[in-house]
Amino acid sequence: MEINSASFVVSNTSVENCPKTSLPEFAFIGRSNVGKSSLINMLLNQKNLAKTSSTPGKTLLINHFLVNEAWYLVDLPGYGYARVSLKQREQLHRMISDYMLKRPNLLCVFVLLDSRHRPQEIDLDFLEFLGENQVPFALVFTKIDKCKKSELNLNIENYRNRLLESWESLPPLFLSSSEKKQGRTALLTYLTQILKDLSSQPLE
Ligand code: GTP
Ligand code: MG
Repeated sequence: MEINSASFVVSNTSVENCPKTSLPEFAFIGRSNVGKSSLINMLLNQKNLAKTSSTPGKTLLINHFLVNEAWYLVDLPGYGYARVSLKQREQLHRMISDYMLKRPNLLCVFVLLDSRHRPQEIDLDFLEFLGENQVPFALVFTKIDKCKKSELNLNIENYRNRLLESWESLPPLFLSSSEKKQGRTALLTYLTQILKDLSSQPLE
């Protein structure tokens, strides 16, 4: 898929204020600093359309980006961000879960996992939440440029095994490096396929 245009539309603190639209959208979620905003920039061929930072907790709002005037990518705050008050953390958690549950045009959530780490409970819990609520998702192992191939394979294998303890089948799984622009074609091809399927079965 060609990205012909990409623009920032709006930031929100709650799903109720998000664009009222029936255009399809895809969201990116995962722990703070896992590389959500960087991945969006990489997919859209942009340098800093989505704001990134080496310090966790950069994205704290629901950010909509309109692509090809036809669909949205949504950059979300990370879950499990520790350096805010308990109250703020609860608000963020609420904002994320409300968004997941109350956005009928949300076609797929990409859950980003740091490829250098073994399965983390907070990620597994989040996947459980999506599964229980029938929110479609795919997994993206990020920062593969920072991970040795043997370590990467081991971490992915561990994840597969953990997921198969509670799931009958595995979700689609992608590898990415925003640094080296890896994974872009596979992810955009996947998005294209979902959009094609939708055009034969529209949202409304
Ligand atoms: P929050 O908004 O804070 O939740 O973080 P985020 O998930 O949006 O992460 P962000 O894209 O801001 O990236 C966090 C840090 O990781 C930045 O310093 C990025 O440059 C770095 N980073 C992101 N993706 C990659 C990658 O694929 N490879 C490498 N080496 N660094 C990456
Ligand atoms: Mg971010």
